Amino acid sequence: MIEKPFFVILTNRCNLACPHCYNELDPLKIVKSKEQDAMSRERLQFLFGQLKEQGYEKGFFSGGEALLRSDAPEVVGDAHALGLKTALFTNGHLFTPQIIARLARAGLDEVRISLNELAWIRNRDQYEHVFARQTEWVSALREAGIGVGIIFIISQRSMLYMAESHERVRQLGAGMKIQPLYLPHDVKGYQSAAAGRMAEGDWNGLLTELESLVARTDFTAESDFEVYSNPWKLLRYLRFVRDVYVMGARPDFCPTGPLLIVDSDGYFHPCLFRFDLVCGHIASDADVRAVRSRVDGHEELRRAPCFREECLSAYR
Ligand SMILES: C[S@@+](CC[C@H](N)C(=O)[O-])C[C@H]1O[C@@H](n2cnc3c(N)ncnc32)[C@H](O)[C@@H]1O
Ligand code: SF4
Repeated sequence: MIEKPFFVILTNRCNLACPHCYNELDPLKIVKSKEQDAMSRERLQFLFGQLKEQGYEKGFFSGGEALLRSDAPEVVGDAHALGLKTALFTNGHLFTPQIIARLARAGLDEVRISLNELAWIRNRDQYEHVFARQTEWVSALREAGIGVGIIFIISQRSMLYMAESHERVRQLGAGMKIQPLYLPHDVKGYQSAAAGRMAEGDWNGLLTELESLVARTDFTAESDFEVYSNPWKLLRYLRFVRDVYVMGARPDFCPTGPLLIVDSDGYFHPCLFRFDLVCGHIASDADVRAVRSRVDGHEELRRAPCFREECLSAYR
């Protein structure tokens, strides 16, 4: 069952500066302040209460790097206390035993760790180093009762390691999702790393690897994977991505839109990639009380009229 989700960008600050970060590269998203986090914990609490009443069921917390907000675990705990499910997107660099204990106490359901650096990997030594460092906390998170999903960014550099990473991640007790590295044509690294430069044979090779992995794995024996547990969904998604890049396919509809996003400046948007569309601001009680109807009013997004390459990373 898919719970009705909302997304909160807790901060736009980040401890990394990934060359591909679409928060910096997507013209529709470059509007955010980094000096301070505009949304107080109290205001977010009010928001969560209203969202629960309006039928939302699951909060996805992201950034920037959400864990840079010192009260991030407690904010998650406020959502949990209202009966909402919770998931946290992170680059995975800021975990400590103390942070994990606070997240577990807050009742966090899931963590999703992005392997951002792997998109730029140059050789096996680097791969081993980065993979080990970024999956270092998976066991501790699982032991604390938090489900873990890993996000693997496919690029010309990382594609060789996709199948291997998938197996290793599953051995750690986590599921893995993939998403292509989006880079605009004029950004350094486009020629050598962007998914948009991969050849048809590259995509077909990845598909063959994934098909073989799915065929030889008994996924029913792993039903306790809480996050990214459905390999057939992964296969379907990879086929769709290949078709977009190789044949210029477009989706008939956008399964993610309209969706409620609260950006780090407190504005409501109906899509992760359409920050030009604004449905209100968290400071206004009236906006908060009406947010679902304003977001749902963007029904035209469902027909995917504005589908762009950036959208692939959120598309399911
Ligand atoms: C903006 S990040 C914020 C959360 C956290 N800092 C992280 O990196 O997971 C949200 C997601 O967007 C992904 N992302 C950012 N830029 C991207 C790009 N150009 N192509 C593909 N995925 C991208 C990240 O890998 C991550 O999974
Ligand atoms: S860690 Fe996430 S938010 Fe930070 S720069 Fe990288 S992709 Fe962007």
